[in-house]
Amino acid sequence: MDKEIFSQVDKYISDLLAPEDDALTDTIKSLEKEGLPQQSVSANQGKFLQVLMIACNAKKVLELGTLGGYSTIWLARALPDNGKIITIEVDKHHGEVAQKNIDKARLSQKVDLRIGKALDLLPEIIAENGEPFDLIFIDADKPPYTEYFNYAVQLSRPGTLIVCDNVIRAGKVLDENSTDEKVQGVKRLNKMLSENKTVTATILHSTGVKEYDGMAIAVVNRIDPLHLKQ
Ligand SMILES: C[S@@+](CC[C@H](N)C(=O)[O-])C[C@H]1O[C@@H](n2cnc3c(N)ncnc32)[C@H](O)[C@@H]1O
Repeated sequence: MDKEIFSQVDKYISDLLAPEDDALTDTIKSLEKEGLPQQSVSANQGKFLQVLMIACNAKKVLELGTLGGYSTIWLARALPDNGKIITIEVDKHHGEVAQKNIDKARLSQKVDLRIGKALDLLPEIIAENGEPFDLIFIDADKPPYTEYFNYAVQLSRPGTLIVCDNVIRAGKVLDENSTDEKVQGVKRLNKMLSENKTVTATILHSTGVKEYDGMAIAVVNRIDPLHLKQ
């Protein structure tokens, strides 16, 4: 099967179930105009995040890696009126572009955009001692994914969903000798997930308009995971 069919089917699904409005298409256009990388989730992935949000009744969400705010807009739109999302971005320019896009989408009241390194800001969020998050989306730099995940668990409650993007990397995770630090970062996370007793996790791999990749999805256990073992 050639790659073209995956893009066409992705478009078929997004036309049906994840149509973009001006706020979303303008956000994607702003990336090019402002010199940001085209690394946003796809429309279908944005919709998938919304489905997860609604399934876990998410009112409080944390995102690592804002870029231009494309995924933030999908996430914020699935929040109830009193819902909030904190999104963390290290790059000031990315943050400025994202804030404009969030304002244009009329979501400023729901979005708390924080500029800084995730590894610096996460302990601050823990120190704030607020309510746990219902869903955490990890989509920042890949080498510290395991550390991000461990912080995410500390900010969770039983039932919280933790979603980590780009953990298959076009199948490069199969390469045992990969020296790519992004591949090494996600492999370390995937291995940790296989041993972690606090969460129940899987990886959904996917093709589409983007490169072949996958999202790890973990739910913080409500019950002893041992009963799930065969
Ligand atoms: C893949 S993009 C995020 C895409 C965005 N979630 C979306 O789908 O629209 C990754 C973003 O993480 C940011 N980033 C990289 N390292 C970071 C760090 N240490 N802390 C916070 N953000 C970081 C990058 O600047 C970039 O904007």
